[in-house]
Amino acid sequence: MQNLLHLSLVSSNPFSQSQKKKKMVASWPEPIVSVQALSQAGVSTVPNRYVKPTHQRPVYKSDQSGLDMEIPVLDMSDMWRNPEGLKRVRKACEEWGFFQVVNHGVDHGLMERVRGAWREFFDLPVEMKRKYANSPDTYEGYGSRIGVVKDAKLDWSDYFFLNYLPSSIRNLSMWPSQPPKIRELIEEYGEEVKKLCERLVETLSESLGLEPDHLMKAFGGEDKVGASLRANFYPKCPQPHLTLGLSSHSDPGGITIVLSDENVAGLQVRRGDCWVTVKSVPNALIVNIGDQVQILSNGIYKSVEHQVIVNSGMDRVSLALFYNPRSDIPIGPVEELLTDNRPALYKPIRFDEYRLMIRQKGPSGKNQVDSLLAST
Ligand code: OGA
Ligand code: NI
Repeated sequence: MQNLLHLSLVSSNPFSQSQKKKKMVASWPEPIVSVQALSQAGVSTVPNRYVKPTHQRPVYKSDQSGLDMEIPVLDMSDMWRNPEGLKRVRKACEEWGFFQVVNHGVDHGLMERVRGAWREFFDLPVEMKRKYANSPDTYEGYGSRIGVVKDAKLDWSDYFFLNYLPSSIRNLSMWPSQPPKIRELIEEYGEEVKKLCERLVETLSESLGLEPDHLMKAFGGEDKVGASLRANFYPKCPQPHLTLGLSSHSDPGGITIVLSDENVAGLQVRRGDCWVTVKSVPNALIVNIGDQVQILSNGIYKSVEHQVIVNSGMDRVSLALFYNPRSDIPIGPVEELLTDNRPALYKPIRFDEYRLMIRQKGPSGKNQVDSLLAST
């Protein structure tokens, strides 16, 4: 897909000089409402602030049985130092920006326990969760919105966001203390997913034809990378066709590992003009390419838009671990991937600057990475 050729360019570069200097505001523009509390109160209609404009509302496709309408499922052991496996990785990252991975090395029991612990956390009374209420300057803690644009249409979800790497910024007192084992589980899960991410970055590097450690070096090195975790809670919704659990976006960072709900589907990936609902394979993890890998690969790999739909029958829990380049070095296209025919498509930018822009605006399709196109 020639995503880059038909990307809708933003008319003005949102990353203007004035924004570079701007500090994050310390509070939300409107009082925060827990969507889970709304859902539990049994509202029969979706309040107006969650009703999306018609063109953003979910599209349900009854027939997704077409051959090429499911994200690829890849076996980690097969892609390790194996030219055929690497070709499959490359194809998945070029065409889908998404794949599911099995044989990933993360213990299945641990996956279940950490998901269960987060479910228990969200089941706590709202007054207990509010102790962790977050603010838009760091996002750390319990929250219900992304972006600080006043009167924005909101998503039908709550979340908990925490920093995991580098360990120097890990602040355990900001992590939930209930249920009792949750902090240990987060650390145990984080360690295993971190190892998986290290192997994936190496695999992506090789699949791009680079030295195995090239991409990790461009990320700033294993001990300097960033990682954060977002536990998402999508409450059941009385009118799911009017809203979204998470609006269309591409992930700003390097790669994302999603542990999806074992029973409830909801994640949709853009494929041309369609939205493909991911059918999660038991015990698999979902991997997707973020904007930083799109930039580093000079657009060979795509950070593809995705969104989450909700439903009227079941709550859904998912865990996204964002594995990001070091935040204080410029990230631009890898020189070895540039050719006369394909010069650098993006201007280099530091991840901390890029993230600030996203945190101000909230989810916005692919507009943010597009704004870095060298031609804008
Ligand atoms: C995200 C995300 C997908 C999901 O948190 O960025 O895309 O299934 N989550 O919750
Ligand atoms: Ni995402």
